[in-house]
Amino acid sequence: MAADAILSYLEPILVAHPNLTQLQRLYAAKPVVLAPLEDVSDAVFRRICRALGAEITVTEFVNVEGLLRGCRNARRKIALADDDVLTAIQIYGADPERLAEAARFAEQAEPLFIDINCGCWVPKIAGRGAGAGWLRDPVAMVAMAKMVVESVALPVTVKTRIGLGPESHMPIVDLARRLEDAGVAAITIHCRTANMGHSGSADWSWAMRAREVVKIPVLVNGDVKSAEDAARAIDSTGCAGVMIGRRAIEHPWIFRECSALLREGEAHAPPTDEERIELCKRHLVANVEVRGEPHGVRCTRRHLSGYLSGLRGAAQLRRELNLCDSLDGCLGILDSYRARAAA
Ligand SMILES: Cc1cc2nc3c(=O)[nH]c(=O)nc-3n(C[C@H](O)[C@H](O)[C@H](O)COP(=O)(O)O)c2cc1C
Repeated sequence: MAADAILSYLEPILVAHPNLTQLQRLYAAKPVVLAPLEDVSDAVFRRICRALGAEITVTEFVNVEGLLRGCRNARRKIALADDDVLTAIQIYGADPERLAEAARFAEQAEPLFIDINCGCWVPKIAGRGAGAGWLRDPVAMVAMAKMVVESVALPVTVKTRIGLGPESHMPIVDLARRLEDAGVAAITIHCRTANMGHSGSADWSWAMRAREVVKIPVLVNGDVKSAEDAARAIDSTGCAGVMIGRRAIEHPWIFRECSALLREGEAHAPPTDEERIELCKRHLVANVEVRGEPHGVRCTRRHLSGYLSGLRGAAQLRRELNLCDSLDGCLGILDSYRARAAA
């Protein structure tokens, strides 16, 4: 869905809820959100997901120290194009004052809101007190969130997990209440503990329990792999929307499938072979435009395997693409596959 289409879809909701903040109004529409994904949810991929129906997108997480030091990569990550209006910037760090300062800096890029990462479980991040490291001290996390909220005019949201693990009663419910009191505008809950990483199953019931004790929107995240999952996650938790990560990497059509099911009550047909090939080409071209060769080609590979899924001869096609570092070469491989398939 293009930004115009999203805004016109939202218009009746905005009119019906004139006193809600922009973010609450967006969440009143039960949005389907592209998750922050390191090295994935960049400008190119956000545009692809938006075109396929993602209603809000989030940048990959940005290290506050890199951002404040002027690191080129960090600055690139927060640069938002004109069509990136419904994109939030996610930041991470271990020092409340540096997070607040970085939020003020990121605010100048005019994102939809600032999201604080309190859920990254990777030891080199959580072990240093950033990401899920904040879950070790929920009181400190809330104080940090309050400081960030008070230092910017934009809404501030928090993305976190249900707890560190293996608690039997997760801190997320009490934490959600305290984050709301601190002025946080919305919370996304990845329904796993930090200790679980990406293993095991997400337990959406914790999102429901947290949602029950706050008025601010709660997004449910974790293991939403189809439009049917998205509908179940929203219905079973009463949450304000869903956030989708890994499935979007290989199948960004999930956003239009969610849109069809959640908005129209209809199942969307899966992508055709032609659409799959076209998306491979479009993503390759866009990434090479931004990153040049061979980097642009290489960093598209993680998507291509999923995009090609279900095509006859996909394994051979993937092998050929994996050996090719040039854009023209990849486009040629895809075109000749298409010609062979049509013959
Ligand atoms: C490759 C990859 C990169 C990720 N990068 C981030 C990130 O930058 N910030 C963040 O909050 N979560 C990040 N996550 C976690 C996802 O946003 C999401 O919470 C998690 O994958 C669970 O959702 P899913 O089951 O829909 O994938 C990342 C996950 C993956 C697989």
